[in-house]
Amino acid sequence: MRNVLVTGGAGFIGSNFVRHLVTTTDLDVTVLDKLTYAASRESLDGLPADRCRLVVGDVADAPLVDDLVGTHDAVVHFAAESHNDNSLNDPTPFVQTNLVGTFTLLEAARRHDVRFHHISTDEVYGDLDLDDPQRFTEATPYNPSSPYSATKAGSDLLVAAWVRSFGVRATISNCSNNYGPWQHVEKFIPRQITQLIDGLRPRVYGDGLNVRDWIHVDDHSSAVLTILERGAIGETYLIGADGEQNNRDVVAQLLAIFGRDADDFEHVTDRAGHDRRYAIDSSKLRTELGWQPQFGDFATGLADTVEWYRANEGWWRTSKAATESMYARQGQ
Ligand code: NAD
Ligand code: DAU
Repeated sequence: MRNVLVTGGAGFIGSNFVRHLVTTTDLDVTVLDKLTYAASRESLDGLPADRCRLVVGDVADAPLVDDLVGTHDAVVHFAAESHNDNSLNDPTPFVQTNLVGTFTLLEAARRHDVRFHHISTDEVYGDLDLDDPQRFTEATPYNPSSPYSATKAGSDLLVAAWVRSFGVRATISNCSNNYGPWQHVEKFIPRQITQLIDGLRPRVYGDGLNVRDWIHVDDHSSAVLTILERGAIGETYLIGADGEQNNRDVVAQLLAIFGRDADDFEHVTDRAGHDRRYAIDSSKLRTELGWQPQFGDFATGLADTVEWYRANEGWWRTSKAATESMYARQGQ
């Protein structure tokens, strides 16, 4: 493998993955990104121009995708509409990008026989009760709840069908909630950090007991590279770092970092269809491919993430205002 096409490489996880590829391998990288509201060119600043280039375009643009896929040895497909709340307001771009975009890439991978890795989410499995002893595994049946997770589930099924019917050399990974630098302020952890930097109160949906299984974005990147290099074609791998926390506990840790009282937050309108709990069993990835997460300590990762948002206010300030207007319209 000499070069990789990374779709959505100017977004949160994609840009962290591109940096990981450039620093830990000698692969050349082309980013294909539409530069939606969720993207930022700055996230790719400082990468060597002779190893990393950005093509601004849409994953559903078949001629462009055909050209790019045909000149690369592998595709890692991150591009998506990624925010559940947005999908409840308007599912249209989710269907277009997550389903039509994935279909367009798969057709090009089929024509050119190019290795394909599809990035997906644990949300395709629906949710678990708080006291359920089970965690999600590769055998858990699909049961998505939101328009976002339904389109991601559909995209996974397209990939599986293109493997079986057309012999496309693809793998899939389903990861839990990521945190770290460059995450858009619409998402839970950056939203609460930036509320606190502004001297405002964190905003917790419903009773705040919903559980997410947090993983540092760099651990997601190392897992994806492991699967790209050593994963078995046609296989799915779940990625997680045993990081279950409920939303109130995460907010309590953030309040403590900022020296604020533990009850200094607001309960706001709950998300429609809000999934209760996600939990990943990543044994297959660990035992079959030897991957291990490196960021075991959530408290340290969270404190580092707070520092990053303090140091990079210029990056998030404009999106913060637009994001909070959107949330205010829906009582959140
Ligand atoms: P993000 O919203 O931060 O970034 C998405 C990127 O895709 C943006 O740069 C955007 O411009 C680009 N994009 C959107 N539509 C496009 C199109 N039509 N053509 C080309 N580019 C387009 O998302 P993220 O949080 O970095 O998530 C990346 C991927 O990882 C998604 O597939 C998501 O489903 C998956 N995922 C995310 C998480 C998480 O916790 N954020 C967890 C598991 C899986
Ligand atoms: O599980 C993986 C998924 O994680 C990814 O597939 C998605 O792309 C990603 O956005 C994320 O989905 P969530 O819906 O879990 O993430 P979000 O950051 O939107 O919310 C996390 C939890 O926090 C969820 O229970 C909703 C809650 N929440 C969110 C916001 C924005 C709040 O309580 N207050 C908030 O202001």
